[in-house]
Amino acid sequence: METVNQLLDSIKGVGRDAVRGGYSRAVYSTPELDLRQWFIEQAQQRGLDVETDRNGIIWAWWGKPQDGALVTGSHLDSVPGGGAFDGPLGVASALAAVDILKARGVQPPRPLAITVFPEEEGSRFGVACLGSRLLTGAIGVEKALNLRDADGNTFADVARSNGLDPRHVGPDPEALARIGDFVELHVEQGKGLGNGGPAIAVGSSILGHGRWKLSVNGQGNHAGTTLMADRADPMVAAAQIVLAVRDTAAKQPDARATVGRLTPVPGGTNVIASRVDLWLDARHPDDAVTAQLIEAIYRSAKEAAAAEGCTVTLTEESYSDTVYFDAGLSRRIGALLPDAPVLATGAGHDAGVLAGSVPSAMLFVRNPSGISHSPEEYVADEDAATGAVALADVLEGLL
Ligand code: GLV
Ligand code: MN
Ligand code: MN
Repeated sequence: METVNQLLDSIKGVGRDAVRGGYSRAVYSTPELDLRQWFIEQAQQRGLDVETDRNGIIWAWWGKPQDGALVTGSHLDSVPGGGAFDGPLGVASALAAVDILKARGVQPPRPLAITVFPEEEGSRFGVACLGSRLLTGAIGVEKALNLRDADGNTFADVARSNGLDPRHVGPDPEALARIGDFVELHVEQGKGLGNGGPAIAVGSSILGHGRWKLSVNGQGNHAGTTLMADRADPMVAAAQIVLAVRDTAAKQPDARATVGRLTPVPGGTNVIASRVDLWLDARHPDDAVTAQLIEAIYRSAKEAAAAEGCTVTLTEESYSDTVYFDAGLSRRIGALLPDAPVLATGAGHDAGVLAGSVPSAMLFVRNPSGISHSPEEYVADEDAATGAVALADVLEGLL
């Protein structure tokens, strides 16, 4: 029997990022593969039967796999330079919850499975929750197989070299039917749970969110010989676009918009870029408002590009509507955790993708730093322990 803290401690050296700080555990990188192996061994030590499905989702079964099982789990991949808890907390808590249930002598009347979803963050191939999107059909197979990482590798090639058959990647109704109810425990990623109050909340909804790529095209040229008046510099337009993103979102209540990644091509100190790619992450509870926000940003981007003699294109890479978790399941969980407040989140999760197909719910564990996607993300040991017990209580109550 291991606690969540002992489990997290055993992986604290995996995927540390010496440059960015925190952890960089991109899907199918060595650290993420090491974590997958760690999970498989942990599950096997608990007598769970482990299988990896055709989309690379790992399932660890307590009981014979069958339709309508109770499923919990999260992910092990991270954003670049991420914290220790986003993903692994849910996986470690699921393992600890199994230990707690076994110690209580629980004999599951229906099978219980722990799942690990690949590429939840979309850090490598750009589309978040790629594993659950493939499982549910929320992304087209061709689109998924043709996604490329920063080195130009397609998802098809990376999937193949990790033992998957690209011909069998995609919607998996049989695997999906095995999920009767899905509960994901996750670190809280904002300031929703203050100190002193309850450490655990029940999720209510996930903010609609999407990713867009803006490519600004200009004239690549020499930094020393090109007069300022003669330039068509996409970096200057990109800088103005970043400000337009901030200003447009700031005017819209409840909107969030971020340019977290920007790549100049070719990217040399003495080179005026020929192209700059910017990735926009935008979120709002009302999907129609998000659409208007993107239109307004694109209008401003076109103006900024034209003023610099450049052009700009905008491509949607992924979009997820606002999701409300299953009311009946959340009510049952609320009854099992009567002190837990109900909390909406601005972060995306596999539970949100699954919610379109099966009853899904979430538990959040307090993060006193209020910071996430950063090394400062934090969960106190006692709150992690409380989370595992809460998850065990919920699973026992739902079984
Ligand atoms: C995932 O954590 C996201 O919200 O982008
Ligand atoms: Mn996460
Ligand atoms: Mn995350």
